[in-house]
Amino acid sequence: MTATTRTARWTPEAIADLHGRTAFITGGNSGIGLETARVLAVHGARVILAGRNQDKLDEAVAEIRKVQPDARLDTAVVDLGSLASIRTATARVAETETIDLLFNNAGVMNVPERRTTSDGFELTFGTNHLGHFALTAGLMPALRRSRAARIVTVSAIAATWRSGRLADLMSERSYGAMTAYAKSKRANVAFTQELARRLTGTTVEAVVVHPGSAVTNLQRHSEGPLARAFVAIASRLLLGSPEGAAWPSLYAGTSPDVRSGQFIGPAGRDQTSGTPRPVALPDGAGDPAEGAFLWAESERLTGVRFDL
Ligand SMILES: NC(=O)c1ccc[n+]([C@@H]2O[C@H](COP(=O)([O-])OP(=O)(O)OC[C@H]3O[C@@H](n4cnc5c(N)ncnc54)[C@H](OP(=O)(O)O)[C@@H]3O)[C@@H](O)[C@H]2O)c1
Repeated sequence: MTATTRTARWTPEAIADLHGRTAFITGGNSGIGLETARVLAVHGARVILAGRNQDKLDEAVAEIRKVQPDARLDTAVVDLGSLASIRTATARVAETETIDLLFNNAGVMNVPERRTTSDGFELTFGTNHLGHFALTAGLMPALRRSRAARIVTVSAIAATWRSGRLADLMSERSYGAMTAYAKSKRANVAFTQELARRLTGTTVEAVVVHPGSAVTNLQRHSEGPLARAFVAIASRLLLGSPEGAAWPSLYAGTSPDVRSGQFIGPAGRDQTSGTPRPVALPDGAGDPAEGAFLWAESERLTGVRFDL
């Protein structure tokens, strides 16, 4: 069977037994991250659900245990908007754990006004990209202990928007809620391209995905009760489920057909749902110059260095 036909027929049932493998998932308490955690746990993986609120993480663990009572689950409190929180969480994990699969999945979208993280970064870019940049660097010792590790970063189709070009990263000159989101999602792609280049020849691979679209808590920042009601109704009519939206992450994390550096998305013509497969990178996002620029800026802003 060729890689193409395997991809065409891929469903989560194709996932091999994952006993002995450990996955770390940011945003594991909600939406796509929770669904990713559930499916990996059902296939035998030990899953570390990472989130910023222990109560929400405990609820997520209870929810997964409803379908898989013997699921091997742990939690890690980490706020991606705080470099101190990331340092504390990753130091503990990096000391003892082996991580085979890292899902940089957490994210915020459509934050109405410019806000900042506790380190002063614009909130959307700071959480979605810089937080994951620092987290990935902190988890490298745990990833290197794996015989074959994969880092899956969850981007979005917004990465292809022209407004997402990587300039004014902190949105200091002008702020637009979805422009900040598009920049952060483009950064997820460019980060993965640069990481994959830097990881060449190691046992760690880096892949980026876009999940299509799904009704999750991501739409919660819409302004005002009317807008929120409109978004809630429109979302339910137009968007898919977190179950389907987790397929690109699950495929990217577990399929032997996936290669480092690939961008994985749904195959449907509307690009919102369907079997996951490699899709074209956003224009210029594979350019080494863009990757080098983003890497240098991320190091400068966070003070974090990768030990690859
Ligand atoms: N849903 C879609 O249609 C869609 C489309 C394209 C891309 N995506 C991407 O898919 C990923 C998952 O989103 P989702 O749709 O599943 O949304 P979601 O249900 O809102 O989940 C987002 C997760 O990120 C966590 N998070 C947010 N800020 C954080 C922080 N500072 N520190 C740690 N965790 C934080 C949230 O934690 P709390 O519960 O504590 O807030 C939540 O667990 C995101 O990267 C998003 O950009 C989603």
